[in-house]
Amino acid sequence: MTAGKDISLSRDSVADPVAAAADARADQAPPADRHEQASIARQPAPTGPGQAAGRSVFHESARAQVAGAATYVDDIPEIRGTLHAAPILSTIAHGKLLAIDATAALAMPGVRDVILARDIPGDPVLGNFSHDEPVFATGTVQHIGQVIGVVVADTAMQARRAARKVVCRIEPLPAILTVQQAMKAESHVLPPVFVNRGDAAAALKAAPHTLTGTLEVGGQEHFYLEGQVAYVVPQEQHQWLVYSSTQHPGEIQHWVSHALGIDNHAVRVECRRMGGGFGGKETQSGQMAVWAAIAANKLKKPVKLRLDRDDDFMVTGKRHPFSYDYTVGFDDTGRLHGLQLTMAVNCGFSADLSGPVADRAVFHADNAYFLEDVSIASYRCKTNTQSNTAFRGFGGPQGMIVTEAIMGDIARTLGLDPLAVRKRNLYSDEVVAAVSGTVPERRRDTTHYQMKVEDNILEPLLSKLELSARYQSRRQAISTWNAKSPVIKRGIAITPVKFGISFTATLFNQAGALVHVYTDGSVQVNHGGTEMGQGLNTKVAQIVADELGVAFAQVLATASDTSKIPNASATAASAGTDLNARAAQYAARNVRDNLAQFVAGLDHCGAGAVQFAGGEVITPTGKRPFTEVVKLAYANRIQLWSDGFYRTPKIHYDKTTLTGRPFYYFAYGAACTEVAIDTLTGESRVLKVDILHDAGTSINPAIDIGQIEGGFIQGMGWLTTEQLVWNDKGYLATHAPSTYKIPATGDVPEHFKIDLWPEPNREDNVFGSKAVGEPPLMLAISVFEAMRDAVGACRPGNQPVVLTAPATAENVLRALA
Ligand code: MTE
Ligand code: HPA
Ligand code: MOS
Repeated sequence: MTAGKDISLSRDSVADPVAAAADARADQAPPADRHEQASIARQPAPTGPGQAAGRSVFHESARAQVAGAATYVDDIPEIRGTLHAAPILSTIAHGKLLAIDATAALAMPGVRDVILARDIPGDPVLGNFSHDEPVFATGTVQHIGQVIGVVVADTAMQARRAARKVVCRIEPLPAILTVQQAMKAESHVLPPVFVNRGDAAAALKAAPHTLTGTLEVGGQEHFYLEGQVAYVVPQEQHQWLVYSSTQHPGEIQHWVSHALGIDNHAVRVECRRMGGGFGGKETQSGQMAVWAAIAANKLKKPVKLRLDRDDDFMVTGKRHPFSYDYTVGFDDTGRLHGLQLTMAVNCGFSADLSGPVADRAVFHADNAYFLEDVSIASYRCKTNTQSNTAFRGFGGPQGMIVTEAIMGDIARTLGLDPLAVRKRNLYSDEVVAAVSGTVPERRRDTTHYQMKVEDNILEPLLSKLELSARYQSRRQAISTWNAKSPVIKRGIAITPVKFGISFTATLFNQAGALVHVYTDGSVQVNHGGTEMGQGLNTKVAQIVADELGVAFAQVLATASDTSKIPNASATAASAGTDLNARAAQYAARNVRDNLAQFVAGLDHCGAGAVQFAGGEVITPTGKRPFTEVVKLAYANRIQLWSDGFYRTPKIHYDKTTLTGRPFYYFAYGAACTEVAIDTLTGESRVLKVDILHDAGTSINPAIDIGQIEGGFIQGMGWLTTEQLVWNDKGYLATHAPSTYKIPATGDVPEHFKIDLWPEPNREDNVFGSKAVGEPPLMLAISVFEAMRDAVGACRPGNQPVVLTAPATAENVLRALA
């Protein structure tokens, strides 16, 4: 895809009368285009008391952010004497680290010290779950960009310049740079995982048709607007304050105390907000904090470490690239009969979150489809590259994309419509095997990990989108177009998403919150989650406002802080609102109950008869302003603040067999995407996107639509332009926006229509809502399938399309060749 205006593939060049007529019809149908949709969604925040949840109140920081008044870590006024650290990077992918000569660096202006592994007072291995990553490389280096130490200087620029002057003598060793090399060398960060159901080999043998194929899918750089940063400030008596741009303040606290060899209680971590995290700050913001803390500890000064963009690319991990091999069996209708699938996951040099990421890919290899006889092998490969980590979808996208590619190729092979093949394979309550003797009845409703899909809405959701996006008539129009157009070919695809909500590690599905009511009636809420732009604080404040019956503007969400909520999970797995808004709701409910009991005593009624609404406390005999009640209650020594705690019900799963109910519920959606490709240059453009997405009863439709837009475009970037290229030495050549292309505003499709599925969550979740942070990213698989559809239109016969992701111009040309 190309952002420029002057490419051969202008929007006009792909217009045709049939589609134009169809567009005109669509323009008459409500709701019109996304701009209108957006204006409906973006009403101003209600200022008076009233129902806050369910309305599109502004993001709590929106005004401050556009005014430049919202504080990020690098905006915090620096304490006098603050020093700045910059990392010393390995220039070799794999080697013996023989000597480090810092003489030249130490002679540079402003340089205070060079901090190496010998300066770590605690454990030289990072305090993460897998415990396989050194804080600073010693003995060996394991990728280009691995951090050997940091230079500390008076300014960040001085530290960066000096870091380049540190001479590391490294004796190169053979490096493993690709997943194929790792598979061959049996180089793994963790043992493989196998999940089987039924008898895949027998099913494949008996299947009327089989197809064998491979797929390569690339990684993705997070490209958060605010790069990785930490600011560590020594406090009295060997205590520490750490400001970190992190999705997981508790993890920073643990890692810092582990590296300093001190108790968790001596480290307080604060994060007001991030300028994006996208999974890249779930664990990997910890290194910055640990490196800065070791320097601060040695020099007894506050130390800040902010990676510049190039270093951020070189040092931190990305989305895991995947490589797949499969054999699939199917019948004449396109229904699957057996699947054997191998996923080789490029984890980089250490485990980080690769285990759960690769597990989630296994869990999502079904996407929306019943896999009856299936055998999946997942290899967690170790390579001499950055350690790959969480990225929106957390392995889910990599699990789904291969199955969607298989669906597309089955359809091509049989000459069927891909949507028909997809529908044919959806989960349903159709009986597989009838009751016979002791064998219980089985239906097509249970996943390969033995979880029953109880809340399936995909059949009606897909049918609704098929109609509203006029899929059938557009497919007709596109074949007519393709028959006449020699150079520009078009493609269309509808793909569904079914994404499991909960951390797959059951223990993380817990949360805490604090609600404080002050004597003037204003409210503060604090919870264990973090704000990264996704609107978590806004949604939590909306829920708390309604619980107390006060105006949204009366509730203020404060910075995440490990001294307020201990042991909080990462804000991840899309579960931020599910977990923290419920905990906050319970905290607010406790305060409300205290007030209700107090007022019931005044009015001689039952506490259950007291209501909180519209800024008032209402009993059968009277009404009082909330602020009045709070003052009276304070005077009568009633507790005006409380904690709240929530743990997700129903979930459990066996880590050794990957079976059970890892997810509380599923979030669903589907997208219809139309693309055009230029068969001479390989360039492409996404022309039209229609999305129908299930956010349950939305707590904030504007924020949810924003998440759907952003998630889709980010997924589109992953599958089209965002290409990571390591050269044959293992050097990441695309380490800046000059060579690594995320979608620009010009890449947003001209027609981009988003509708919300109008049904509450069938499970008891806060406000009836569903998690929305990650699932929409996977709607972008429709872009990849539409591209494959367009490539397929260029060739005779019914053959599969072999397209590598991302579908760059080069990869499209290769697929056409
Ligand atoms: N939206 C914005 N604007 N910025 C982000 O960094 N991260 C995504 C998603 N949406 C992200 C975002 C990811 S990876 C996750 S897991 C969720 O938000 C986390 O927040 P939530 O659980 O509160 O939805
Ligand atoms: N999603 C996101 N982050 C996680 C998960 C998950 O399922 N498990 C552990 N960290
Ligand atoms: Mo999101 S990848 O779970 O931080």
